[in-house]
Amino acid sequence: MPRQEAIEAASIRLEDPRSGINLERRALLSAGAALILGMVVRPARADAQSKTRIGIIGSGHIGGTVGTLWVKAGHPVLFSSRHPDELKDLVGGLGELAKAGTIEQAIAFGDVVFLAIPYRALPQMGQDYGAALKGKIVLDAGNAIARRDGDAIVAEVERDGIGVVSQKYLAGTRLVRAFNTLNYKVLASEANRSAPRLAIPIAGDDDEAMQTAAGLVRDAGFDPVVVGKLADARRFQQGGPGYGQQVSAAELKQKLSLP
Ligand SMILES: NC(=O)c1ccc[n+]([C@@H]2O[C@H](COP(=O)([O-])OP(=O)(O)OC[C@H]3O[C@@H](n4cnc5c(N)ncnc54)[C@H](OP(=O)(O)O)[C@@H]3O)[C@@H](O)[C@H]2O)c1
Repeated sequence: MPRQEAIEAASIRLEDPRSGINLERRALLSAGAALILGMVVRPARADAQSKTRIGIIGSGHIGGTVGTLWVKAGHPVLFSSRHPDELKDLVGGLGELAKAGTIEQAIAFGDVVFLAIPYRALPQMGQDYGAALKGKIVLDAGNAIARRDGDAIVAEVERDGIGVVSQKYLAGTRLVRAFNTLNYKVLASEANRSAPRLAIPIAGDDDEAMQTAAGLVRDAGFDPVVVGKLADARRFQQGGPGYGQQVSAAELKQKLSLP
């Protein structure tokens, strides 16, 4: 079976059939505080055995939104901040599976770490937390944007591809690129929509990490599309053909000429 199909199939097997989400209200999150209009779903179950502990670094728009979807799917999530007190509103409404803490605590807590920070912060993140992150499955949602992140790192990303650059700064992690292509408002409102679900492209070099990521994409309410290795992640970085595509998995595969 080709790698892409094997990862997508394995992730389906890993999926907990009880973890469906019924969005009853839409969620909108902003940095530091939940602007949620809710996403209350059925109460999240603390069924830790079949669940993945997730540490979120950068609990702003994208980290807050995707982390909330995972809590609603029943995963224990530690949202982190350099100012954890500011996350009280966010975690307060999410029940017992959501906690707030420091970046160190999120890394220690998570079997998986979800990184959703400005891309310019990646080199420092690697320097400060590289040892703690070593060996962890890390899902990286960052995009390099010149006006925010500066020309130098954007030029590096354009030259080498974002997956390769992220892995360079987060050496030793089992990195997967994921959740970078769609606006957080779209993720909040379209999660778990009726079939066909929206596609989330993913790419990584570690097959087990890719299977885990594919399962978490499904649990968040989307369909994973395996684009390839980290070197292929440039196909859905900003400016790439897979970026910003609000389409189904079948349509995304067609656009990217994937089998
Ligand atoms: N917004 C979207 O719709 C969207 C969609 C896809 C991908 N992305 C990408 O996801 C990343 C995050 O975007 P966002 O919109 O969620 O940004 P955001 O709302 O500003 O949140 C980013 C968070 O990162 C943390 N942070 C900032 N600088 C940091 C540093 N030097 N070290 C550690 N943490 C730092 C901040 O948390 P504390 O201050 O609390 O520590 C902040 O809450 C970006 O790379 C963006 O391009 C965004």
